[in-house]
Amino acid sequence: MKVSLIAAMSQNLVIGKNGEVPWNLPDDLKWLQERIEGHYLLMGRKTFEEPQQELKNNKTIVVTSKKNYNTQSAQVAHSIKEGIQKAETLDEKELMVVGGGKIYEAALPYADRLYLTQINAEIDGDTFFPSYNLNDWNIIYNHYHPKDSYHAFDFEFQILEKVKD
Ligand SMILES: NC(=O)c1ccc[n+]([C@@H]2O[C@H](COP(=O)([O-])OP(=O)(O)OC[C@H]3O[C@@H](n4cnc5c(N)ncnc54)[C@H](OP(=O)(O)O)[C@@H]3O)[C@@H](O)[C@H]2O)c1
Repeated sequence: MKVSLIAAMSQNLVIGKNGEVPWNLPDDLKWLQERIEGHYLLMGRKTFEEPQQELKNNKTIVVTSKKNYNTQSAQVAHSIKEGIQKAETLDEKELMVVGGGKIYEAALPYADRLYLTQINAEIDGDTFFPSYNLNDWNIIYNHYHPKDSYHAFDFEFQILEKVKD
């Protein structure tokens, strides 16, 4: 099974502010929805409790340290490793890690692929994507999206694959 991280970030690696995503880019949400369609999603407890509309699906694995965390609408795991193992047991072929910051950081060492929306601006925030070494990744797809009346920033969709040792 492949483990993929999918995230939108500013040039200063901001992904969130006050529990929300601090921009509104409709075509990025469309990209997110298309990439995650049909896949199990691995997400942190905070992102699970306040999900963007696009992240609401019936194949969610939520990661929490709370031992008796109870929910009807997701499977529960207590570590990234346990979440990955659960998805494997459920016969997933590409687990999509959808955030937030804590989860991206803990999942990055397991990642085979990154779907990154790189926003061409510095944006203020309090939650960050972990820094990653570009030498470890091949950019296999890059598509530029200009700023327009619906999108306050221009941005790029990128797909990166981990360089094999
Ligand atoms: N731009 C994007 O693409 C994007 C995507 C998703 C989210 N976001 C933004 O990111 C922010 C939320 O991120 P966040 O970092 O604050 O929260 P988060 O990663 O969604 O959730 C953090 C919680 O997950 C659990 N957790 C994390 N790592 C764990 C581990 N290794 N083992 C066990 N449990 C673990 C803990 O839950 P317990 O406290 O229950 O133990 C922790 O408090 C929001 O602003 C959201 O809008 C942005």
